[in-house]
Amino acid sequence: ALPTRVRIHEVGARDGLQNEKTIVPTEVKAEFIRRLAAAGLDTVEATSFVHPKWVPQLADAEELLPLLDGVPARLPVLVPNRRGLDRALALGAREIAVFGSATESFARANLNRSVDESLEMFAPVVATAREAGLRVRGYLSMCFGDPWEGAVPLERTVRVSRRLLDLGCDELSLGDTIGVATPGHVTAMLTALHEAGVPVDRLAVHFHDTYGQALANTLAALRCGVTTVDASAGGLGGCPYAKSATGNLATEDLVWMLDGLGIATGVDLGRLTATSVWMAGHLGRPSPSRTVRALSHQ
Ligand code: HMG
Ligand code: MG
Repeated sequence: ALPTRVRIHEVGARDGLQNEKTIVPTEVKAEFIRRLAAAGLDTVEATSFVHPKWVPQLADAEELLPLLDGVPARLPVLVPNRRGLDRALALGAREIAVFGSATESFARANLNRSVDESLEMFAPVVATAREAGLRVRGYLSMCFGDPWEGAVPLERTVRVSRRLLDLGCDELSLGDTIGVATPGHVTAMLTALHEAGVPVDRLAVHFHDTYGQALANTLAALRCGVTTVDASAGGLGGCPYAKSATGNLATEDLVWMLDGLGIATGVDLGRLTATSVWMAGHLGRPSPSRTVRALSHQ
């Protein structure tokens, strides 16, 4: 059976823009987030409090957050460590996300840590954030495949998932960072997590669309009981010149499918598409989303 309602966790302003070559002006990011909220998205991931040298595209987090006062949406921010949490708390963030990896290679590449060391880094962040009344999401990257290590065993993803949830994360988002998963793999993963005692209502799915599988993978996840789906407006992200990097599942493609299935999202597809077309103008290239193209004759 399929759910009657899906919560969309919009990541375009964070996962999308962190991967764009163009560095978008802070005021344009703020306007993008305001328009996404106005289109009915109630969770709009805003930015990351990471090292500015690691992700220069999001180095303006301190300038951006104050511009978002009064935006009617939850605005989670990524935080890898104490320093990031302090920066986020100083700006009044209400919701954070830590981001771990199922594989050693990506933990090293993304966090300069082993998997164990990164979980040790997150533990006090999650505890302090919860004491301060914040909601905490955990991301787990490379759940299905890894560019250095190839296929990732289900047991490994299940094991690190449990550890992230045990730290106190309210929700865990399963990341197919390089978009290699297919629907049977998604079903097997969610079944293995269920058998390991992980409640499906604490899970979200985070698909990148590298091989065009993101929508099929999402449908497989919905059939397993998942009701929170990450997506990026216009399919933002990735570099058109890099072979393995593409954006997330486009929010418009997701909403088109869910509207067709009669599953409520609260999102106005027309307003969302107009927002992505407007953003594509700032980035200087058309949206890769098939739905955006079809609805806007781009
Ligand atoms: P490190 O070099 O090991 O940092 O990087 P460190 O702890 O050794 O500290 C070195 C210096 O950095 C210190 O300064 C710190 O204060 C400073 P110094 O004392 O030398 O002057 N520093 C910071 N400055 C500002 N903000 C901070 C911060 N932390 C330390 N938060 C670190 C470790 C985690 C910082 C680094 O690896 C990093 O920033 N990584 C972020 C990478 C990232 O953002 N990746 C993208 C997000 S993940 C993703 O996209 C996947 C996802 O979408 C899901 C999926 O698709 O799978 C979520
Ligand atoms: Mg991602």
